[in-house]
Amino acid sequence: MVSSVPTDRTSAPRLVLGIETSCDETAVAVVGDREILVDLIASQDALHAPYGGIVPELASRRHIEVLPRLLGEAAQRLGPRWQQLEGIAVTHAPGLIGCLLVGLSTAKGLAFARQIPWIGVNHLEAHVQVARLDYPALAYPFLALVISGGHTSLYLAKNLGDYELLGATRDDAAGEAYDKVAKLLQLGFPGGPRLDQLAAQGNPHAVRFPTPQLKTRGSPFEIGRYDFSFSGLKTAVTQCVQQTSPPSVADIAASFQHRVIAEITTRLRAAARHTGCPRVVVAGGVAANRGLRSALATLAQTEGVEICIPPPRHCTDNAVMIAWTGAEYLRAGLRSAFDLNAQAVAELGSPAA
Ligand code: KG4
Ligand code: ZN
Repeated sequence: MVSSVPTDRTSAPRLVLGIETSCDETAVAVVGDREILVDLIASQDALHAPYGGIVPELASRRHIEVLPRLLGEAAQRLGPRWQQLEGIAVTHAPGLIGCLLVGLSTAKGLAFARQIPWIGVNHLEAHVQVARLDYPALAYPFLALVISGGHTSLYLAKNLGDYELLGATRDDAAGEAYDKVAKLLQLGFPGGPRLDQLAAQGNPHAVRFPTPQLKTRGSPFEIGRYDFSFSGLKTAVTQCVQQTSPPSVADIAASFQHRVIAEITTRLRAAARHTGCPRVVVAGGVAANRGLRSALATLAQTEGVEICIPPPRHCTDNAVMIAWTGAEYLRAGLRSAFDLNAQAVAELGSPAA
């Protein structure tokens, strides 16, 4: 996943700077072994709110303004230790290309000036790997579901950099569905967290939204057992809102959330049973959802599996996950070459055979 050259394992870096600019959060962190020394996140929510969604050009321009300021703040917080940084990790894929380039160029410049190793990190892998920071005893293999604004993918994580893709969304990502439905319900931007809040006040059984009818392998429309689909659900919510006397917004939100949670828990239950893997990581922005977190706690009890969900701050975009994942690679003796480019699209791992 990284264009990498081996480095000297004996000089594995301890103090690693992480930079995240793949979407609409500018984030900078410094980790030393398992210790988080700096964790800064500047959200662009207010910038994009008037447009009801992220405007890529505005996002990258804002990263250019904010990233140097965050790095300055990180330097101030670290004091003399800022000069002792031994490695740099940066998101290079996937994400908005202009946004990725801001972080990547900055990281390359810093690494070149300081003559220290640096590594490009896959954002999706970082969402998964941060669970190993939050759950130090988490051992491979484990199931990992990334549910974010751009992805809904289920993996069998076998090692650092070694993932088997078990299933993914065929249309919208879970976070995308949250954001689109929140827009339909006129909840404002960012939609996911607002819908989460409102759902807590509604009746999850008020509207019976349909279960996506996915065809399984071997059928004319070959779709894997662990694949997801959320676009039909979005259409069902649209039709529900357009009724002459629709249910209350809170009831629609709660019923939508109930359906999404059912889709996720059903797949995780099946995957845990079929693979026999007793450890499940749930990561990415949607993993911050309160209703989902409580449903997963129940699933852990009923299925006897360990569910590892990072704290909400480590689920939504952050730089701790980048610094931590980069540090893992640097410790393993890898680093990126200066010709590593940004990549808008990059799945993690290989599909199941
Ligand atoms: O991982 P993330 O911060 O950025 C991406 O990598 O995409 O995920 C952002 C997504 C957005 O779609 C946002 O609405 C959703 O995660 N999200 C939530 C919640 N917090 C963030 N969705 C549902 N409930 C939440 N509490
Ligand atoms: Zn993310």
